[in-house]
Amino acid sequence: MGAGPVGVGPVGAGPGGAPPVGPGPVWDVVNGLAAYGALSAALELGLFDALAAAGERGLAPDALAAAVSAADGDAVALLAEVLVSLGLLTGDGEAVALTPVAARFLVSGSPASMAALGRLSPGPWSGWQQLAETIRSGAVPAGTRGELDALYPDLVRATAPTQRAVAAGVAAALAERGLWPASPRVVDLGCGSGAWLAALLADRPAAAAVGVDLPGVLPVARETVAAAGLASRVELVEGDYLEADVPGPADVVVLAHVLRAEPPERARRLLLRALGLLAPGGVVVVADYPRPDPVAAPDPGRPVVLAGARHELLLSLTMAAATDGHGVTVADLRAWAAEGGADLTDVLQPVPRQTVFLIRPAVPTEPEREP
Ligand SMILES: C[S@@+](CC[C@H](N)C(=O)[O-])C[C@H]1O[C@@H](n2cnc3c(N)ncnc32)[C@H](O)[C@@H]1O
Repeated sequence: MGAGPVGVGPVGAGPGGAPPVGPGPVWDVVNGLAAYGALSAALELGLFDALAAAGERGLAPDALAAAVSAADGDAVALLAEVLVSLGLLTGDGEAVALTPVAARFLVSGSPASMAALGRLSPGPWSGWQQLAETIRSGAVPAGTRGELDALYPDLVRATAPTQRAVAAGVAAALAERGLWPASPRVVDLGCGSGAWLAALLADRPAAAAVGVDLPGVLPVARETVAAAGLASRVELVEGDYLEADVPGPADVVVLAHVLRAEPPERARRLLLRALGLLAPGGVVVVADYPRPDPVAAPDPGRPVVLAGARHELLLSLTMAAATDGHGVTVADLRAWAAEGGADLTDVLQPVPRQTVFLIRPAVPTEPEREP
């Protein structure tokens, strides 16, 4: 058989002599699942940890297979080559080693590690398998929602290192703006791991806080708060953050990664509730991954805007696959803030890809209840 090159390029010209198009973008999307499978398997096998232990010289495929206790050395070699092609490993054909990105984000002990998050971030698989039906029916299957609720304790643990860094950056930004009193009172609605509570209270020995979350997740926050020695200063309230009895007023109310998982009406009510809990001079801190605002008129630049927001769009679709939320836009936040007599005053990025909004009453608010 001849071994000449096989033509895989675009064939012929497009309509009206337009440049021919090839299927590359389609393959890129299809291969996205395989690329994610490679990352997920490598994390589960402990491949990045094994290479971290091996140091800069890395490991030959056989040694790597042995290090991750894999019987199929050729499959490990293939997996390693895929990871090189994805820019997560380097390789000279004899050995593979970590790239700086993998060393920082994919090794389990690293302070910025995303090793646990990388496996949990897409949420329940059933949500993706049933996405077309969810879109068609307008309802997430109950089983998928239940799987997400069961996943939340691990998910919030996995995001905790990043969220601690984000919250520490927010505390510094609040202090710069004169919004971080010596003994602040903080409310965190949907407090998850308690990472925000622990980070915000870390440099304020006289601060006190209330965290609200669902019964399955609250024990994770309790562990974090206890480990940080904050148990006497943090009250943890179990229940729906829209209904739970939350003592106010607060100088800072946190809504971190909760609005995007709620349908618009509940998200709107949640932001209004947060504003209602503020003491005069207080601030609502919203951390989220905002979708691009809708346009008022056709905009030829729209594809560029959407391409630049692919991360936020895909995280919003992740919500649509498993929750009743579709993400939030900045326009949503501004409109709901205005309804509550407040303005979106600052947009921060304390950590790359982590967006935080400060929303402050235009005029001092009446607290929801007396202290
Ligand atoms: C993506 S996690 C964010 C956790 C935390 N705010 C953070 O940013 O690290 C969403 C959290 O909201 C909680 N949650 C979802 N629905 C809730 C509800 N109705 N009432 C209270 N908490 C809720 C989940 O249990 C989960 O801990």
